[in-house]
Amino acid sequence: MSKVLVVGASGMVGSELVNKLRAKGHEVVRATSKTQLQPDQVHVNLATGAGLEQAFQGIDKAFFLCPPGYTNQHELLGPLIDKAREKQLQKVVLMTAMGANAVEAAPLRQAEIRLERSGLRYNIIRPNWFMQNFNTFWLHGILQAGTVFLPVGDAKASFIDARDIAAVAAELLDSGRFDNQDFDLTGGESLTHAEAAELISQATGKQIRFQDITPQAMLDGLLQAGVPADYAEFLVMILGFLKQGAAERRTDAVERITGRAPIGFAQYARDYRAAWL
Ligand SMILES: NC(=O)c1ccc[n+]([C@@H]2O[C@H](COP(=O)([O-])OP(=O)(O)OC[C@H]3O[C@@H](n4cnc5c(N)ncnc54)[C@H](OP(=O)(O)O)[C@@H]3O)[C@@H](O)[C@H]2O)c1
Repeated sequence: MSKVLVVGASGMVGSELVNKLRAKGHEVVRATSKTQLQPDQVHVNLATGAGLEQAFQGIDKAFFLCPPGYTNQHELLGPLIDKAREKQLQKVVLMTAMGANAVEAAPLRQAEIRLERSGLRYNIIRPNWFMQNFNTFWLHGILQAGTVFLPVGDAKASFIDARDIAAVAAELLDSGRFDNQDFDLTGGESLTHAEAAELISQATGKQIRFQDITPQAMLDGLLQAGVPADYAEFLVMILGFLKQGAAERRTDAVERITGRAPIGFAQYARDYRAAWL
């Protein structure tokens, strides 16, 4: 059994990953940028580099992601990868995002390349848009107006459940079967946002609809909500890729790695029903 450092351990994917790794018998060290620590936590602030040396003490394997809100992802992830290399970790799993490798100069791709060239055993996982965005980022519009407001038209996306991403990451950290491979992770079905809203309506009994908005309206809303300008522009840009159809593609990676089919959107909507009531 290994001692695994999980970055983003309190987050959507990381919290599920911690549970799954512990269920497989691994010891987990949870990284947090907060300073009040539980016994199984270690302080790491990726924005400042604080706590890195301490965090890797006695660690065998690690899971890395870049917290949302930053556009210079390679600058946050680079020191983590370098430290993993210095400590000669047995394995690193890096989560980026589907489409991150479309342009070699993109910050997330730069981090991927750094890991690929590190000489460490690794996996890169690139999930598509999370189902859980509907119960987090898009929740406000749903609760206030019964509406998902996004500039994506009727483009389809093969949304993935964060619990499946965690299951994949846990398996990759547990086993060497897929070492040094990268995977685009998707759900098993491609849906428009209107279809997704309809499945949430069915699960909740509340009428939830989708409304297409302009990229400018999206940008204005994000800025009003206090999202930093560069990250707001980045989000509007990647929503533009979704609108062009870049998120529709499906892969069989979840099933190949976990041995079971991905969670469907209807199941996700039933499981998270309470969030929208
Ligand atoms: N949402 C999507 O549709 C989607 C799709 C593809 C890829 N992604 C990628 O998924 C990642 C986000 O994953 P998630 O949704 O599981 O995370 P999340 O729920 O947003 O949680 C973010 C995590 O980062 C930690 N964190 C925040 N600031 C930090 C800092 N300065 N230093 C160290 N840790 C910090 C937080 O922990 P503390 O507060 O304890 O520090 C928290 O555990 C992003 O890289 C995003 O690009 C998202």
